[in-house]
Formats: sequence, C-alpha cells, structure tokens
Amino acid sequence: MSLPRRLRLAAAALRAAGLHRLPKPPPAELRPKGRLHTKRRDAAAVRHHYDVSNEFFALFLDDTMTYSCALWEEGTEALEDAQRAKLELICRKLELEPGMRMLDIGCGWGSLAIHAAREHGASVWGITLSEHQAELARERARDADVADLVEIRVMDYRDLREERFDAVASIGMVEHVGEARIDEYAAQIARVLEPGGRVLNHGITAIPPQKGGAHIGGDFSNRYVFPDGELLNLSRMVLAFERAGFEALGVENLHTDYAETLRHWTSRLEDNLDEAERLAGTERLRVWRLYLRAARNSFETARNAVYQLLCSRPLTEGASAVPTARRHEPARRRVPPERVPA
Ligand SMILES: C[S@@+](CC[C@H](N)C(=O)[O-])C[C@H]1O[C@@H](n2cnc3c(N)ncnc32)[C@H](O)[C@@H]1O
Repeated sequence: MSLPRRLRLAAAALRAAGLHRLPKPPPAELRPKGRLHTKRRDAAAVRHHYDVSNEFFALFLDDTMTYSCALWEEGTEALEDAQRAKLELICRKLELEPGMRMLDIGCGWGSLAIHAAREHGASVWGITLSEHQAELARERARDADVADLVEIRVMDYRDLREERFDAVASIGMVEHVGEARIDEYAAQIARVLEPGGRVLNHGITAIPPQKGGAHIGGDFSNRYVFPDGELLNLSRMVLAFERAGFEALGVENLHTDYAETLRHWTSRLEDNLDEAERLAGTERLRVWRLYLRAARNSFETARNAVYQLLCSRPLTEGASAVPTARRHEPARRRVPPERVPA
C-alpha cells in the first residue's frame, strides 16, 4: 500500500475511533498540581473542601460550627452538648488558665478559640487556610464578646515566626499535613511552644500499619473530598512529636465518638437536602452524602481511629515533664445503642 493511502487510512481510523480530549473533571473534583504538600498546593486542596460555603456546613454542624469529632459522655443526647464537652475536654487537657496564650492550628469557624477565651480567659490565636472560615470566626468571636481575646488569621502553620504560646491545640487539621511534612509540623509546634507548654494534637489515623506510616486516601476521597489528605498511623504521629523533643502525656481514642458524630451530621444533612442541593449543587451533595457515610463506616469497622495525643515540651532539655499521677480520666462513653443503616 502506498504511503499516502496508508496515511489516509490512519487518519480515517483515528476519526472513527475518536481521538478526543478527555472531558474536563467535574467541579466537584480537584486535581491539585505541583509538588505534594507545598503551601500553595495545600491551600488549594484545603479550600476545595472548606469553601463549599459556610451556609452549607451550618446545615449539618452544631451551633458552634465545630467540624471534628464530639465527645459523647454518658447521657449526652444533643450534638451541641457533645461538641461543648469536647471543647472543654481539650481546654482541661491543656490546663488553660486566664492570661495564657494559646494557638489553635486549623481553627475552622473558631469554636475552640471562642470557648477557650470565654470559659478560660485564654488569649487565642486561631489560624486557618480558609478566608470564609476566618470571616465567620471573627464575627462569632465578636458576638461572643471575646473579640479582644481572639485573633483569627488566614495563615499556614509553616508561616508562624516570632510568636510564642503557652499551649497549642490542633484539632482535625493534621490529616492535611502528610507524612513528608509531619516531622516539620511537630518541630514547628515545638518552636512556637514555651518550654513546659502542652500541645493537644487531635486527628484521624489509619489503624492497619501502612507502608511509610501513612495512608493516602483512595480515589474517591482524594479526588472529591480531601485532595492530598493523608491518614498516618498513630505510631508515626507519636514518632514525629518525639523527634521534635516532646514527651507524650496521654493518648485517647475517640473512635466511637466519631461514628456517633457522623451519624448526627448525616441525619442533619438528610433533613436539609433541598437547601444543601441549592448551596452545593447536585453532584457535590452526592459526594458529601457518600463521604459522611463512608467515614462513619471506617470508624465502625476499625479502619480509622481518632486520637487525642497530649504532649508537653520539657522544661529543660532531657528533664521529664510527665506528671506522676494520671490527671485526666478518660470521659465515660455512651456506646450508641444501635447502628443506623447506611
Ligand atoms: C476539619 S477542620 C477542623 C476545624 C476545627 N479545628 C474544628 O474542630 O472545628 C481543619 C482545619 O484545618 C485548617 N488547615 C488545614 N491545613 C492547614 C495549614 N497548612 N495551616 C493552617 N490551617 C490549616 C483548615 O483551614 C480547617 O480550618
């Protein structure tokens, strides 16, 4: 066959088989670009999740807008009470006192910062990557009359410089850090924390041992829900804090509490589907309905856990800051009586 004829045939085959560009990803999907866990890429990934809109999150979160696992002490029925109990538990573990300076890394809509200021007189810096969250957090601090004690900034934890704090909380944020950055993250906390200060790191972990100590989310989570999110093993988390010079004071698993929290979020979202669809769109709402159920399932089936890791920065190099007696009894739990089918 002659060359021109072959070329004509090849062109016809291409036209028939349809060499098309791949369709664009749908708006609910993010394919972050650039090197993993740079500040720019992390900011894009984080905003993809949190900037759906404040109104959307308000449809299923409690009135404090806390977006992390609540604490279901015996007899607790309302999500609002369970979230306040969790905020109070964190403040107690950090032994907050009036005048103490606290940093809240990943402050969300400001619930912990406001609670720590109002109930414990702490002076709090909350940092988040979401402008939408920061705006509402500031407004809420004003409404709660603690605007003079609460400073909210849109800032990456890596950009903290001269500031020093007596206590640090990081609640539901470490999932965005990644194994490659976890040592740097813990070292940054050690740098900004005064000697003798405490840090409470509360985050979701992978239970089965992972290669390299971290589980990078599956396709669904990675593309639609938490792009670049990573769940570390608890051991990898503890190692990072030890490498940064911390001494672990306590580890508490709240996995059943997270399953129960997710059940409440799901049921609130299901009660508001029309409004949720208006705010998030059909496709994104489908993603969220699935994600909330899948997340609950992962806590119920022991694939994920959520730990509060309390550490102290020793007063002097090599000296122990561990209390001799246990000071924080774990809260008593109500094990959910029955599981709501997915
Ligand atoms: C699941 S939300 C938790 C919010 C809040 N702590 C709570 O319990 O309601 C995670 C938060 O981490 C923040 N975040 C994620 N990566 C961050 C980073 N690199 N620097 C600062 N904040 C970050 C997000 O903006 C968001 O506010």
